[in-house]
Amino acid sequence: KKLEEEIEQFNDKAEKALEDWRIRLLGKKGEITQLFEEFKTVGTEQKREFGQRLNSLKNKAVDKIVSIKDLLENQSVLTSKEDKSRPSDNAVVGTRHPISLVKREITEIFSKLGFVVEEGPEVEDDWHVFSALNFPPEHPARDMQDTFFIAKNPDILLRTHTSSVQVRVMKNQKPPIRALMPGRVFRNEAISARAHCIFHQVEGLYIDENVSFTDLKQTLLYFAKEMFGENTEIRLRPSFFPFTEPSAEMDVSCKICGGKGCNVCKYTGWLEVLGCGMVDPNVLENCGIDSKRYSGFAFGMGVERIAMLKYQIKDLRLYFENDLRFLKQFDKAY
Ligand code: PHE
Repeated sequence: KKLEEEIEQFNDKAEKALEDWRIRLLGKKGEITQLFEEFKTVGTEQKREFGQRLNSLKNKAVDKIVSIKDLLENQSVLTSKEDKSRPSDNAVVGTRHPISLVKREITEIFSKLGFVVEEGPEVEDDWHVFSALNFPPEHPARDMQDTFFIAKNPDILLRTHTSSVQVRVMKNQKPPIRALMPGRVFRNEAISARAHCIFHQVEGLYIDENVSFTDLKQTLLYFAKEMFGENTEIRLRPSFFPFTEPSAEMDVSCKICGGKGCNVCKYTGWLEVLGCGMVDPNVLENCGIDSKRYSGFAFGMGVERIAMLKYQIKDLRLYFENDLRFLKQFDKAY
């Protein structure tokens, strides 16, 4: 009872006095601590009432101490000479990763043509990555050497290209479709200056009535000029992908040597940048789109490769090492 009153009245705002008082009540040999010792010896009938009063006494003391401490802290903030409203010194901020910068640039270029970004899962099933895209069952891309399988299950795998998102988009949307699909892809390859087991792709898909190869070529020419400069020329070489027919690979004219021949373009004047083609009618049908009424084109590029050409980066591994000396060079250049 006496202590209760004391706690209520205690109002010494000196830091030292407060600490002394805390020790006197709650310290190892403090008065309240001792009452807890005494509590062990009281008879069972009194235990309940004694316990309750003791606990509430302790809580009151703790509350009091905390509230005085808060008050002291607020006062010291108010009276200190520092200006707490002053803006902070320039904090060190990171720079955007060259892959993010180039990925954003690619999506911005295509968004001007009405392409909308779509995403899909990195862990996929065989159907979305291979079967729906016309890969025959014995196709080497399904091999253990190329594909990472999850838990030895041949049906669940890490996508080897973002074409799996094309399949998802075609299944879920009705034409006209104009989609751009950026994302990480995975291939079981030895890491070197020219190959990595993780890299980034951006794929595009355009499906409507009467879409022709001319539309594909014009779209890609527009992209190349926006990305690499107004004077860039493109060249399409015949190629093969199971999911496009006809298929092509696109080269852009080498800006570094102006076509005269240099180390970067291996003295050919051209740099390979992407794969493309007209979506195979089988693929449209697999995804529930009427191939008699609709046609479309698709293209896919590696973001690392585009960034390498743009910034003349010679080793793929640099993208993943997080060396600040490398990373700090790009954001300003954007
Ligand atoms: N998916 C292909 C690859 O990963 C690229 C591609 C996309 C080719 C779309 C044609 C059409 O290499």
